[in-house]
Amino acid sequence: MKIVFATGNSGKLREASEILGEGFELVSLAQVGITEDIPETGKTLRANSLQKAQYLYDKTGCDCFADDTGLEVDALGGAPGVYTARYAGDDKDFNRNMDKVLYELGVLEGEARMAGSLGLKVKKVSRRARFKSVVTLIIGGQIKMFEGTLEGVIAREKSGNGGFGYDPIFIADEYPGKTLADISEEEKNAISHRGKALRAMAAWLHTHSETVPTAPTVPSADPSVISTDPSVISTDPTVPSADPSVPSTDPSVISTGPSVISSEAEGRVEKSE
Ligand code: IMP
Repeated sequence: MKIVFATGNSGKLREASEILGEGFELVSLAQVGITEDIPETGKTLRANSLQKAQYLYDKTGCDCFADDTGLEVDALGGAPGVYTARYAGDDKDFNRNMDKVLYELGVLEGEARMAGSLGLKVKKVSRRARFKSVVTLIIGGQIKMFEGTLEGVIAREKSGNGGFGYDPIFIADEYPGKTLADISEEEKNAISHRGKALRAMAAWLHTHSETVPTAPTVPSADPSVISTDPSVISTDPTVPSADPSVPSTDPSVISTGPSVISSEAEGRVEKSE
C-alpha cells in the first residue's frame, strides 16, 4: 500500500518506513510534487497535524499522514508547545530556539535564588519537559489520530552532535545524564514521541489495512496532474466518509472521526472538489 507522508525530512521518512515495515511504501512530498510550505495555523498539535494531513489529501486524494510535534516545558507553562519550531523566530533556528529555552529557565532559577536569599519560601524551578507528537492518518476517507509522548528534563547546557531540533538540551528519563543528541539514532527512535505515535499508527494499519478501502492511486510528481486530474482526487463512492458514530475500541487511536477531533481542529476529509 502506498501512503504519502507530509514530510521533506529524509530522517523522518526513513524512520516511518522502518516502523511501517513490509507492505507499505512511503511517498514523500517531493514525490507528489508538493514543494510549498504546508500551512500550520492551528492552536494545538492535533489541529496542525490534521491541517497538514487534510491539505495533503485535498491536493492528492491519496491516503496520507502528517505529524506535528511540540516540546512542553512545565516551568514555562507548557511553552514552546505548538510554537516549538518558531520559538525564537520565523527562521526556525534550532540553536536560537534552544538558547531561548535555556535562558528563560535560567531567569526563573535566578529569580527563585534571589527570592530564597531574601528569606522567601520558594519552590525549586522544575526542568521537567516532554515531547509530544500527534500523527493524523487519512485513509479510505477516514481520519485517525495517534499520539506519542517522551518524558524528560531540560539539560543545563547543550550536549551531543546527533539528532536535530531540541535534542541537545533534552534528557529523556530512559537515558539519565545523556541528551537525545548524545545517544544513537536507533536508541532515540526506540523511545521517541514520534516513534511511539508512528508505531501506534503502524499497529492500526497492520490490523485494519485489509478492511479499509484505500484511495485509488498516488499521482505523479507533476503538480498540474495533482491539482487537476479528477481521477486523482478521490471521488470514489465506495470510500466512506469518517463515521463519527463509531467509537474507537483501540486505545492507541485517540480519535476515530471528525466529531471527536478537538474543537480547534474541524474534522473534514471529503471531498476537496
Ligand atoms: P515538527 O512538527 O516535526 O516539524 O516539529 C516541530 C519542531 O519540534 C521542529 O522544528 C523541531 O525543532 C522540534 N522537534 C520535533 N521533533 C523533534 C525531536 O525528535 N527532537 C528534537 N526536536 C524536535
